[in-house]
This record gives sequence, structure tokens and C-alpha cells, in this order.
Amino acid sequence: MTVQRARPVAGEGEAGAAAISMRGVVKRFGAFTAVDGLDLDVPAGSCLGLLGPNGAGKSTTMRMLTAQAIPDEGSIRVLGFEVPAQSKRARAAMGVVPQQDNLDEELTARENLEVFAHLYRVPRRERARAVDEALAIAHLTGRQGTKVDDLSGGMRRRLLIARGLVHRPALVLLDEPTVGLDPQVRAELWGLIDGLRSRGTTVLMSTHYIEEAERLADACALMSHGRVIARGAPAELVAEYAGELVVEHHGPPDRLTEVERAARGAGLPTRRTGPSVSVLKAETIPPSLEDELGPDGVRRASSLEDVFVVLTGERVE
Ligand SMILES: Nc1ncnc2c1ncn2[C@@H]1O[C@H](COP(=O)(O)OP(=O)(O)OP(=O)(O)O)[C@@H](O)[C@H]1O
Ligand SMILES: [Mg+2]
Repeated sequence: MTVQRARPVAGEGEAGAAAISMRGVVKRFGAFTAVDGLDLDVPAGSCLGLLGPNGAGKSTTMRMLTAQAIPDEGSIRVLGFEVPAQSKRARAAMGVVPQQDNLDEELTARENLEVFAHLYRVPRRERARAVDEALAIAHLTGRQGTKVDDLSGGMRRRLLIARGLVHRPALVLLDEPTVGLDPQVRAELWGLIDGLRSRGTTVLMSTHYIEEAERLADACALMSHGRVIARGAPAELVAEYAGELVVEHHGPPDRLTEVERAARGAGLPTRRTGPSVSVLKAETIPPSLEDELGPDGVRRASSLEDVFVVLTGERVE
């Protein structure tokens, strides 16, 4: 995958500099710490996938980038602006696609985009064209006159994304952009997001769909309990934490416990998924352990999902 370098963004001189930089960021809700000393950089022009189980702090992190949530500690720079102090200027150059659909249901698709084009101060004479473009990107030109209430779920999702793009932002925050979509619409959205990146737009995207991160992200950050616990290109993360091969054993609980114990005894990571145990880095299994594990294992290639489960101890979906 080639990484397209960005055009210079507001406040940044050189391409490839950080579009987002978070240092030691903490966000508490009462006694609960949702984001716990987070460090995160997103190079301009790249797509970073933010992965993590429910409640890891992904949405809270995104909300702090737009100053919808104010951090208790730490520093945040977005497109060269301090947030929250200069958040108005940062927000003007940022497109936001929230996890929760907050479209205006009484308005048509086009009207929703027009409202945002106005809010984001797209100059009046350019507004109609900007709206046309956003509709085209989201494949909604033919439905522009339809009230949001009458659009399908997938169309609403596409409109939500179009709305985040209408002012041609240098940075787009996508919070679970393809949640609940059918595979075909999801694939279309992947094309859309890939297109953004190839135009030099910086993308920060949270997702529970590992395949989505593998396909789109230049790098992934794995979040757990409000911190980044691993970061790298998908292939690097897989190689480092899961190796090349996984051997999956099925059987009764006693048998699974036995496999787990034997593999861990040899220093190999394992993951338990319902009725199976998988041994990771299986290409390094020594012959003696191979005998102990038995011939009933099913071999498959390691994936980013294995990394996720091993590092967070939780399932993704
Ligand atoms: N306004 C709030 N008040 C209190 N607690 C909050 C608030 N917003 C978030 N939290 C808590 O902070 C934690 C992180 O929430 P967040 O929405 O950032 O998680 P997430 O990683 O986006 O999860 P998901 O994958 O489910 O979307 C959760 O425990 C959540 O309940
Ligand atoms: Mg979330």
C-alpha cells in the first residue's frame, strides 16, 4: 500500500507532519478515568485505525479532538492548533462523522448538506458545487431530494459521511463509519475512505471491523482502558504479536485447558474463543510440543484479530 503524502495543512509547513498529536491526555467522568494518559500521533495524509473493545475510550478520544469533551490533563494539537484553546479554527478544517446518526430527519439529503456547508462557511458561490460533490462521493445524487426519514440505513450512513466532507476538510474523524451496514455498502464506503486518503486527506477512524482496519489503515492503534497498548502497520502488528501461523484446537474444556497449558509452557501466546483454543506463532512450535498438542489442530494464517484478542483479552465484536 502506498502512503500518499498530504498537501500542507493549516498551521503545518511540511507534509507528513502530525495532523493530530495528543500527549498524556486524561479524561475523567467523575471517579472513572475513560482516557488514561493517551499519546497518539496521526501523520498528515495517513489513515490511522483506532481499534479497541467497547468502552476503551475511542469515541471519547475523538470527542476531545473536536473539543466536545474537554481533557482533564495533557495537550492536544490538531492541524497545528491547540485544542481546546483554538478549537474553532481546528474544527473549521476538520470533518466529523459521529458514531450516533444526528442527521435532521425532517430535511432532505441535500438540505442536510446545505445546512452544514453554511455552518462550515463554505463561500456562498461555492456551496452548490460543494454539496453536489459530497452527494456524488456518497452516491446519493439520485436521492438528494429524499427526506432523511425515508432513506435506508445505509444511505443515512453515507449521507452522514458526505456531511462530514462537504467543506473539504484536511482531516476527517470517522467514528465507526460502517457500523450496521450490509457488506456491499461497507465495501462502497471503503472505496470512499480510500479515495479520501489518496486525495491527501488525513483520516482517523475507529472501527470494530478488523478487516476494515486491515484494508484501509496505514497504521492501527490498539486501545484498551484509555491507553494505546500497541501501534503499527497491520502487517507489523500481526508479525510481532501473532506470528505467521495459528493452530486452532477444538474439543472439550479439559482438552482446551491442556493445550493452553502446554503452549504457554513453551512461551507461545494463545487465545480462547468459545469452544476452541488457538496457539499463535505456531510456526515456532518445537517438535516436542507438536507431539503434545496432537494432530487435531487446524492451521490458518494469523490475523489482526488474533493480535487484538491476545493484547486486550477481549473479543472485538
Ligand atoms: N459523558 C459521559 N459520562 C460518563 N461516562 C462516559 C461518558 N462518555 C463516555 N463515558 C464512559 O467512558 C468510557 C469510554 O467510552 P467511549 O464511548 O469513549 O468508548 P468507545 O471505545 O468509543 O466504545 P465503543 O466501542 O462501545 O463505541 C465508557 O466506560 C463510557 O461509559
Ligand atoms: Mg465509541
